[in-house]
Amino acid sequence: MTMRVAIVGAGPAGLYAAGHLLQTPGLQCEVDLYERLPTPWGLVRAGVAPDHPEKKLIVDRLFQHTLARPELRFFGNVEVGRDVQPGELANWYGAVIHASGAAGDRSLGLAGEDLPGCWSAREFVAWYNGHPDQRGLPVDLSCERVVIVGNGNVALDLARLLTQPVEALEKTDIAGHALRALRASRVREVVLLGRRGPAQAAFNNPELEELGHLDGVEIAVDGWGEEGGVDWVTRRKLATLRELAARHVPRPRKRIEFRFFTSPLAIRGDGRVQRLELSGERGSLDAGLVLRAVGYRGTPILGLPFDAEAGVVPNTEGQVLPGVYVTGWIKRGPRGIIGSNKACAAETVGHLLREHAAGRLGRGALDAAAVKAELRRRQPELVDLGGWRTIDRAERLAGLKHGRPRIKMTGISQMMDCVHQGEAQAHDS
Ligand SMILES: Cc1cc2nc3c(=O)[nH]c(=O)nc-3n(C[C@H](O)[C@H](O)[C@H](O)COP(=O)(O)OP(=O)(O)OC[C@H]3O[C@@H](n4cnc5c(N)ncnc54)[C@H](O)[C@@H]3O)c2cc1C
Ligand SMILES: NC(=O)c1ccc[n+]([C@@H]2O[C@H](COP(=O)([O-])OP(=O)(O)OC[C@H]3O[C@@H](n4cnc5c(N)ncnc54)[C@H](OP(=O)(O)O)[C@@H]3O)[C@@H](O)[C@H]2O)c1
Repeated sequence: MTMRVAIVGAGPAGLYAAGHLLQTPGLQCEVDLYERLPTPWGLVRAGVAPDHPEKKLIVDRLFQHTLARPELRFFGNVEVGRDVQPGELANWYGAVIHASGAAGDRSLGLAGEDLPGCWSAREFVAWYNGHPDQRGLPVDLSCERVVIVGNGNVALDLARLLTQPVEALEKTDIAGHALRALRASRVREVVLLGRRGPAQAAFNNPELEELGHLDGVEIAVDGWGEEGGVDWVTRRKLATLRELAARHVPRPRKRIEFRFFTSPLAIRGDGRVQRLELSGERGSLDAGLVLRAVGYRGTPILGLPFDAEAGVVPNTEGQVLPGVYVTGWIKRGPRGIIGSNKACAAETVGHLLREHAAGRLGRGALDAAAVKAELRRRQPELVDLGGWRTIDRAERLAGLKHGRPRIKMTGISQMMDCVHQGEAQAHDS
């Protein structure tokens, strides 16, 4: 009997889970992949920095292969929770895997955090990567100083983006609105606040070393702390920081400062962000933009248990309820690189397959044709694999003319117009 599985979310976790299922020898399986956007790839499209194209290329190739499998159907522009409920999917399919990532962010719990000009990294990253949800974020780069709270890899992405020469971004897939804002940017200094010391910073060494390649950017470090008894990875991190701080940059264009052992106490401003009050002897710091890069956060899924503290759906090896599973950031929290989701998905799929072998998964109330008809009735603008390929082709073609990997469409209606034109052309030919 063919097992029918719904996967919610076409990010790395969802695609790795689909890949594992479809590559299981001897298993007859069909996968329906639900994605709230017309475009797949999750944070590979809307998170990974535009100046890291090689990562996107490798992952794009790998996932295109999975998406093209004949046993998989892509249901883009279908939001679970809006167009179809999680409980309905549990009824329609033998099993459901939720791979919806982390759609929210951790907050600092400070006064002034909701002032315009204080954005979460999630909002800012989605803005420069052309995610339809944040294309209208009113980002103002007319200030001289930006403060980033947090010392993770995302914080380094933001610092790099704000300080590198804009010409370097002109050949990337950064959103057009972000490129225009960065061309006009008056930002001269980016200060990264770390509540702990450099030895405890969450960023990785390769990402830190990359800052050394930024043209005309001076780097300063304030607050070294204790350095004894650390492992070699941390020793390398400290050595890199020391090298970066010791470099002489003639006539620097911009400056990045790591300010360790420093926390914001409040964000102040009259109608928008103007300054931060800092812990200890640090006093206050003027800033026109504050970015909270303190981590993403999962959000609840209707009908499933939720650990509000950790922002995850509690699970055992990925299983939440009989026939209902999680994988990726919604399963284990907002940490780990793209590849980490492969082993995570393998664990979830492994559990699912054991349940299947034991005959503990139901058959699902709807067959493949009935599901598609029902979805089309509820969401006439459903985007299938052909629709996504039309968008993909049009974006790449637009990019080709400008020496860019693609020019992203950032609006759902723009994407739908493109899909409909593609359909019309297909009918003409
Ligand atoms: C800013 C940033 C930069 C990063 N850069 C790198 C990097 O350079 N290299 C690296 O290896 N890792 C990087 N990572 C980590 C990597 O992106 C994550 O490990 C990975 O994307 C997590 O995968 P996921 O599938 O769990 O979540 P996501 O990638 O977020 O995918 C979840 C998907 O589910 C969809 N979805 C959500 N809710 C619904 C719903 N209700 N219905 C239907 N669909 C839904 C979303 O639209 C999304 O497509 C970065 C992370 C961030 C935040
Ligand atoms: N190039 C890449 O491979 C790449 C790029 C981007 C992201 N990623 C991955 O994506 C994941 C998410 O990255 P991330 O940077 O969002 O998260 P992260 O690695 O968890 O870093 C979060 C940072 O925020 C700090 N923080 C948390 N709460 C805070 C608070 N209340 N006040 C002050 N600081 C606070 C943390 O400090 P403490 O340590 O003190 O808690 C830490 O420095 C990571 O696994 C990362 O490696 C990878």
